[in-house]
Amino acid sequence: MTTTVSSRIVSSRGVPSAAVSDGALARPVEIRTRSLSLIYGRKPAFLDVSLDVPRHGITALIGPSGCGKSSFLASLNRLSDLLPGCRVEGEIHIGEIDVLDPATDVVALRRRVGMIFQKPNPFPLSIRRNIELPLKEHGIRQRAEIDAIVERTLTEVGLWPEVSDRLGSPALALSGGQQQRLCLARALALTPEVILLDEPCSALDPISSGVVEDLIASLRGRYTVVIVTHNLAQARRIADRVAFFWLRDGAGRLIEEGPVDAVFDHPRDELTAAYVRGARG
Ligand SMILES: Nc1ncnc2c1ncn2[C@@H]1O[C@H](COP(=O)(O)OP(=O)(O)OP(=O)(O)O)[C@@H](O)[C@H]1O
Ligand SMILES: [Mg+2]
Repeated sequence: MTTTVSSRIVSSRGVPSAAVSDGALARPVEIRTRSLSLIYGRKPAFLDVSLDVPRHGITALIGPSGCGKSSFLASLNRLSDLLPGCRVEGEIHIGEIDVLDPATDVVALRRRVGMIFQKPNPFPLSIRRNIELPLKEHGIRQRAEIDAIVERTLTEVGLWPEVSDRLGSPALALSGGQQQRLCLARALALTPEVILLDEPCSALDPISSGVVEDLIASLRGRYTVVIVTHNLAQARRIADRVAFFWLRDGAGRLIEEGPVDAVFDHPRDELTAAYVRGARG
């Protein structure tokens, strides 16, 4: 298979190639959108987005406020179903799942596609119950199995040494960074394949932000990660690929996407160049 390190300018009818290539290593596609649009009432949040996200890599979505990044994430696990007046058109495939097929089991989809938000949102329950509750909802009820998953996921996010002696304490008593790591542990407990993160560090202090960023970087190779970030330095540090969205005629558009170095160092589109230089947006 040929490889390329150049980015791709996305024309309005643009459709990416079948393979996603990260320079030396081509990875299979995990998420594939085609002509995807999301419209709130009459107002489009984004239009005509065709994007391939490679399996087990980290893809960063960047672009100015209001260009549809969060809406794009919401479409991927059909969180958009919950927004009144919201309509999604086009195609999304995640693995073999046809996401927008009305027959798709949304509960099963969300088990495979976890989501982390900007503001940590642990349940107002104990640390342990935060992980136990979704497991029980998905039919895992054996105490020994739950205990093992609690320990495994809290270890995976580096929280186990900090909280193993107080699993019954309220999750809301944790620091913001610890709460965000608990939310990630809660998502990992359901063994997702894809993890969507919407500005997961932007509400955290710099030290917690660094801890969470390192944790996200450590997911590479095991999970398919799509992260929205306004922090271009962060995108550069952790992403394999970058997709740049921009607002055109009142609707978000995917302007360019490709390997992180290509988009930052050799952008093909002038808008991308101005944005990554900090001159626009
Ligand atoms: N629930 C909603 N109902 C109606 N319009 C919405 C809703 N959520 C977002 N929008 C609108 O859709 C457009 C895209 O919003 P979105 O939140 O997806 O952008 P974003 O790129 O994530 O912005 P930011 O960087 O500020 O988070 C905006 O014009 C926004 O006002
Ligand atoms: Mg947003």
